[in-house]
Amino acid sequence: MTETPVDRSDPVRHPTTEEALAALDMPLVDAMQTQRAVRRLHTDPVDDALLLRLLELSLKAPTSSNTQDWSYVVVKDRQQKARIARLYGVLYRAFKPFAERAALADPAVERQLAPQRWQAENFEEIPVLVIPCYRRTLKHAPVGFPQISVSSYYGSVYPAVQNLLLACRAVGLGASLQTLPIWLVPVAKRILGLPWNLNPVCIIPIGWAKGNYGPTKRRPIGEVVHVDRFGNRPFAGGE
Ligand SMILES: Cc1cc2nc3c(=O)[nH]c(=O)nc-3n(C[C@H](O)[C@H](O)[C@H](O)COP(=O)(O)O)c2cc1C
Repeated sequence: MTETPVDRSDPVRHPTTEEALAALDMPLVDAMQTQRAVRRLHTDPVDDALLLRLLELSLKAPTSSNTQDWSYVVVKDRQQKARIARLYGVLYRAFKPFAERAALADPAVERQLAPQRWQAENFEEIPVLVIPCYRRTLKHAPVGFPQISVSSYYGSVYPAVQNLLLACRAVGLGASLQTLPIWLVPVAKRILGLPWNLNPVCIIPIGWAKGNYGPTKRRPIGEVVHVDRFGNRPFAGGE
């Protein structure tokens, strides 16, 4: 998958590890307001010391019953990345014609699609793929009944993922939460060598940001907040 070529003559100077670590002092509100899915990435490596600090901060997140049954698989090996790229490619190619047709009809869709296309077609060039995995138990499982165990399973991963996204934003790394590249979980598990009771939940491609951060566009708060019962939205304008 290399239709969109990668620019290897990249003149950009990235922050040193010391500079990047210092940038973690960014005000929380600024990080939260501007964090967004940044898919266009420089292909230069990301220093392990920086990455480890970000992962450490990520893992300050809560988990159900404080189980902390996480494992992060950090993929940097080119062959491993290529295997995941091949898995993603099957799904990407299946849906590409539909997406391209929609993009032809609407420039807004094309603007949204272009960074996704770049990433899908250069997946193995991405410096780091972080794959948060969580152990399944009777109490916490990705499928099944009661629903609360499913909620607790995924809910034990996504707070840590958001921490990581915010930390990446602060230091200037581009990152995004993705699920499609590991869509066929049994195959993803085989590639990563995961034991039967450990599932990959999502994948976070990381590299120095080429795309822009926010501000992001989200639905107005008054539209989303209901007081006491669904439907009572006193903060919605004009209602
Ligand atoms: C559960 C979940 C799964 C996602 N899966 C993908 C994905 O597979 N590929 C992708 O490019 N983006 C994926 N995203 C990112 C969203 O598309 C993105 O966050 C959303 O469009 C908002 O974009 P923004 O943060 O840049 O405003 C996912 C986000 C979430 C929360």
